[in-house]
Amino acid sequence: MSLLVAIQGWSPDDWVRRFRQEPGSPPVLDAREPFDPAAVRYAACWKTPPGLLARLPNLQAIFNLGAGVDALLADPTLPAVPLVRVADPDLTARMTEYVVLHVLRHHRRVDLYAEAQARREWLKRDQPPARAARVGIMGMGVLGRDAAGVLARIGFRVAGWSRRGDPVPGVEIYAGAEGLKPFLARTDILVALLPLTPDTRGILNHELCAGLAQDGPLGGPALINAGRGGLQVAADILRALDEGHLAHATLDVFETEPLPATSPLWTHPKVTVTPHNAADSEPAELCRYVVEQIRRHEAGGALQNVVDRGSGY
Ligand code: GLV
Repeated sequence: MSLLVAIQGWSPDDWVRRFRQEPGSPPVLDAREPFDPAAVRYAACWKTPPGLLARLPNLQAIFNLGAGVDALLADPTLPAVPLVRVADPDLTARMTEYVVLHVLRHHRRVDLYAEAQARREWLKRDQPPARAARVGIMGMGVLGRDAAGVLARIGFRVAGWSRRGDPVPGVEIYAGAEGLKPFLARTDILVALLPLTPDTRGILNHELCAGLAQDGPLGGPALINAGRGGLQVAADILRALDEGHLAHATLDVFETEPLPATSPLWTHPKVTVTPHNAADSEPAELCRYVVEQIRRHEAGGALQNVVDRGSGY
């Protein structure tokens, strides 16, 4: 029984080495080299070439080395074995850092003061307390719930929106298509942590931006997308910024990555671009997570964080 490491985009050499060094790891095969497909029982994947996993007759489980499984689910030949995503405290903590950083950056007007400093201007604006600002989180899975808890602790008024509307203690929850409008209307800072599915593709569009609260204390609403690039319609976000429906957009993810040099998002004064690193995780933690799940599975235990293929997350 072997673990196949089938990674693109990240540095596969490092991952193969790390898995080989991880105590308790099964024998590790490198998908870039010739291997016996029948020997593979588990696969550790990121942007794995479509069709590769279908060639593995004894595959028992697929481990996606990130939280979002959209790239794997886009493979129509993906075998019907359990697909496990990362729900790791390290990844979750880093995403919460990113969300809190950018919520506070908007709330405390960091850009305004940086511009004033560049002009040597002692600019003072009223600073509303956190309790005056309404943060809305789209996607209330592990990541959304963790960020909501920390933001609420700081004092923000936090609400969540999700497809099913499962209750989250201490957070006002809006559900489904009918909950979206009222959720947006009460939101000054919108955080998108949704998975990319056929239902969520393009959800961050012009109508959504225009539906955000326009009467907040911060001079216009802000959008933070740390989910997937396919959630956003870049042209609509730029239009909403230019029309004044949106004061700022912080984007960590893009339809095409790396973001092409020709994209107008790079230079727009109201856009912050980060290179899909909101929740880059400690690889050693992820290797440990995968090897521990394999150990449990081999001992007859249940795999954790198995993706529901119907909902796509
Ligand atoms: C990163 O984008 C992830 O899915 O964890």
